[in-house]
Amino acid sequence: MPDSATPHLIRDDERNVWIAKDASTVQAVFTSGACHVRPTAEPVPGAFLGTPGGEIYRRLVRMNDGAFHAARKPALERVLRVVDLDHVRAECDRWAARPMDETARSVDIDQLVFDLPTATLASVLGVPDADVPELLPQVSDFAYSIPGGARADQVERGILAAGYLLQLFQRLLPIAPSGSFLASFQREMRDVGETDPDTTIANTIGFFFQAYEGTAGLVASSLIAIAANVPPAMRDDVQVIGDIVAERLRDDPPVPAARRFVAQETVIAGQKLSAGDVIVLMLGEANRCPHLAGMPDSFSGGFGPHACPGQDIARTIAEATARNLVRAGICDTPFPEPIAFRPSGVARIPVLNRQVQPSSLNGGNR
Ligand code: HEM
Repeated sequence: MPDSATPHLIRDDERNVWIAKDASTVQAVFTSGACHVRPTAEPVPGAFLGTPGGEIYRRLVRMNDGAFHAARKPALERVLRVVDLDHVRAECDRWAARPMDETARSVDIDQLVFDLPTATLASVLGVPDADVPELLPQVSDFAYSIPGGARADQVERGILAAGYLLQLFQRLLPIAPSGSFLASFQREMRDVGETDPDTTIANTIGFFFQAYEGTAGLVASSLIAIAANVPPAMRDDVQVIGDIVAERLRDDPPVPAARRFVAQETVIAGQKLSAGDVIVLMLGEANRCPHLAGMPDSFSGGFGPHACPGQDIARTIAEATARNLVRAGICDTPFPEPIAFRPSGVARIPVLNRQVQPSSLNGGNR
C-alpha cells in the first residue's frame, strides 16, 4: 500500500472509479494518451443521439480526442487568446448597468452570478443585445443537460435549448462582420482545415456551457472572500479583486474534478489500468499538494491537451462581475457561515441568498 506522499491511484469500489488526487498522478492522467474525455463506446451520450444536442456534442473539441481534437484545438486557443480583456470588462459593466428584466423590483444575486457572466460572454462572442435575454435560460438548460447525472427532464430541456442555440448561431455566423469574434473563429477553423461552419457554431455554443457553472461558482466564492477579507476602500480595485479571483480559482476550484476514460490498457503511477476504467481527477487536492519542479501551479483549468483555453476570459468576467456586485452593496456585510452550495454535478457554487435593487447595480443609487 503506498503512503499518502507517494503518487498513486486510489480505488473507489463503491463508485467503480479510480481517484487521482496528488499533483503528479493528476498530471500523469491529464497527459496520458490512453486516457480519453469520453468512453470509447459512447462518444456522444445515448440520450443526445439524433438530436440537436448530439449535433453540437459530437463536434466539440472538449468532447473529442485524437486527430479531431489536435487539429482544431489551436483554432480555439488562437481566437480566445486575442479577445481584448478590457472589452470584456466594459461589456460586463454595460450589462450590470442595464437590468436584464426591466420589470424586476429586486434581483436575486444567485441568479445574477449566472446571468451577468453569460450576458457578458454573449456580447463578447457577438450576440446582439436583443437576443441575450432569451439566450440566458437556453444556456442554463443546455448546461444542466450535459453532466452524466442529468435527469431525463433536464436532458429533454437541454435538447430543446440546443436547437435554439444552433438556430441562433446559424443565423449570426453568415452575417458576422469581418473582425468580429465569430468571423475570426470561422477563419481560424478554416485555417486548420475545418470547413463545416457547424463545427465553429458547436464550439461557440460549447464556450457558453463550459463557462456557465464554473464562472458562477468563481464569482460567488470571490464575493464571499471579498466580504470577509477586503477593506471597503479597496473593493473597486481591478488588481485587488483580480488577485482574490485568482486565489479562489486556485484554492477552491469551481470545477473541482475532471474525468477520464481509459481507452487502452496502460500503467499510471504504477497502477495497471484496463480499457473502460474511469478516473476522477481531484483538482483542488492536486493544487494543495506540494508541487515538484515543472508542475503547474494550478490544475483548476485542467492541464495538458484538454487544458482550458478560456481561463483569462473566465477570470476577467469573474473579476468584473464581482466588482459590479460589490458596488451594488452585496459585500457590505460578511456572508454568514455555514455557506450552502447549489446542487450541481459539475461545480461548487456557493448560495449567497441576497437581493439587490436593480437601480443599485453599477453604483446607481449609491
Ligand atoms: C471559472 C470558469 C472556468 C473553469 C473553472 C473552467 C475549467 C475548465 C477545466 C477544468 C477544463 C478541463 C476539462 C478536462 O480536461 O476534462 C476546461 C476545459 C475547457 N474550457 Fe474551461 N473553465 C472555465 C471557463 C471557460 C471559459 C470562459 C471558456 C471559453 C470562453 C472555456 C472554454 C473551455 C474549453 C473550450 C475547454 C475544452 C478544451 C479541450 O478539451 O481541449 N472555459 N475548463
